[in-house]
Amino acid sequence: MNVLLIGSGGREHALAWAISASPLLDKLYCGPGNAGIADLAELVALTGADHKAVVEFARRHDIGFVIIGPEAPLVSGLGDTLTAAGIKHFGPSKAASQLEGSKGFTKDLCRDLGIPTGAYGRFSQASAARAYLARQPLPIVVKADGLAAGKGVVIAQTMAEAEAALDACFSGAFGQAGSEVVIEEFLDGEEASFFALSDGNHVLALATAQDHKRVGNGDTGPNTGGMGAYSPAPVMTPRMIERTMTEIIQPTIAGMAARGMPFKGVLFAGLMITAKGPQLIEYNVRFGDPETQVLMMRLKSDLLTALLATADGALATFDLRWLDDCALTVVMAGRGYPGTPEKGTEIRGLEAAGAVDGVEIFHAGTRRDGARILADGGRVLNVTARGKTVMEAQARAYAAIAKIDWPGGFCRSDIGWRAIARDASRASV
Ligand code: AMP
Ligand code: GLY
Repeated sequence: MNVLLIGSGGREHALAWAISASPLLDKLYCGPGNAGIADLAELVALTGADHKAVVEFARRHDIGFVIIGPEAPLVSGLGDTLTAAGIKHFGPSKAASQLEGSKGFTKDLCRDLGIPTGAYGRFSQASAARAYLARQPLPIVVKADGLAAGKGVVIAQTMAEAEAALDACFSGAFGQAGSEVVIEEFLDGEEASFFALSDGNHVLALATAQDHKRVGNGDTGPNTGGMGAYSPAPVMTPRMIERTMTEIIQPTIAGMAARGMPFKGVLFAGLMITAKGPQLIEYNVRFGDPETQVLMMRLKSDLLTALLATADGALATFDLRWLDDCALTVVMAGRGYPGTPEKGTEIRGLEAAGAVDGVEIFHAGTRRDGARILADGGRVLNVTARGKTVMEAQARAYAAIAKIDWPGGFCRSDIGWRAIARDASRASV
């Protein structure tokens, strides 16, 4: 079968890497892709924003399956366009993508279904939002309702900060995404990323992961899309996984089906593991980035078969196998990230780095210029390694990074610290 993958990040490179190993694959196309994905797929000039162009390409190239990586095309309804055109695809409908596209939608669903999450208020008027805010304890979390590329969340330590965040949303700092605001209780605990495939009715839990959102060592500095990740997440014990499935994931899937918007795809729950148990911070309707990079390093089964089973409503009898090993990825970013990164700087030494035992280098934002590889984004490389322990995976990843000659980039030097501090003990998936 010919497959078209939409996206251009490290997540898509890791998905392309896993799909390339599938016996079901004839030819893989990726739009728009990056310099690393180009080794595995034919790159095509598609972004997912132009739905019609995706349908036309799929028809012309006999595409049997379209896999949609990022959230923006899902939230804008690429899945519905493909359904209408009779093209099989992986990724939820526009209605089901509201789980990521509207934080207020998800909070209301949690309220109605009794899913554990922080208390909240949802506002489209500044005056009502301010009145609610004044009654809340600190710290307090202010979020733009819609997609804001990870930038629409402020954890305010003072009322002045919270009010400034409200003003930013209502004055259009996040465009339409901020015209509605969610004010939310601050949850205290350890974060974890939880992934499950759903075919609309049945749910299959994937492995767990933890990412590092802050740009600096010791989890300091501004939030980013993620500076590194590892799998499994020791905080996700078998008991915590079971509670997450029964208290959060399964009711969500059942609730969405009951509302006539069945969720078909991968549901990514951002969790806070609190003293009371798992609480939902937010949902995403796609694979995590960089979590996918570590999940794919541990997946033994055929990914393409699993994604097809998800689309075909055939997960009831499906299972996946995972390596017991740990995997860890370190994000290398262009200087300036998460602000404006320097682009066009040359990266050398990738071959030597990729030859380190147990290491795969996924490209996140690169382009080729003749024989040279150039940085072309904020997050640029994901240096990913497997090991018997998280400590071994970490040592391998940083050994590979030492071979990369890229003065224009930087990375954190402590990815995995939390798991290593726990004596590198391994939880089951
Ligand atoms: P989000 O984009 O909703 O994932 O938020 C980005 C990050 O902000 C999360 O990964 C958390 O670290 C933090 N965050 C968001 N909401 C809350 C909350 N209610 N309590 C504590 N931290 C939060
Ligand atoms: N790593 C978090 C995300 O993909 O949103």
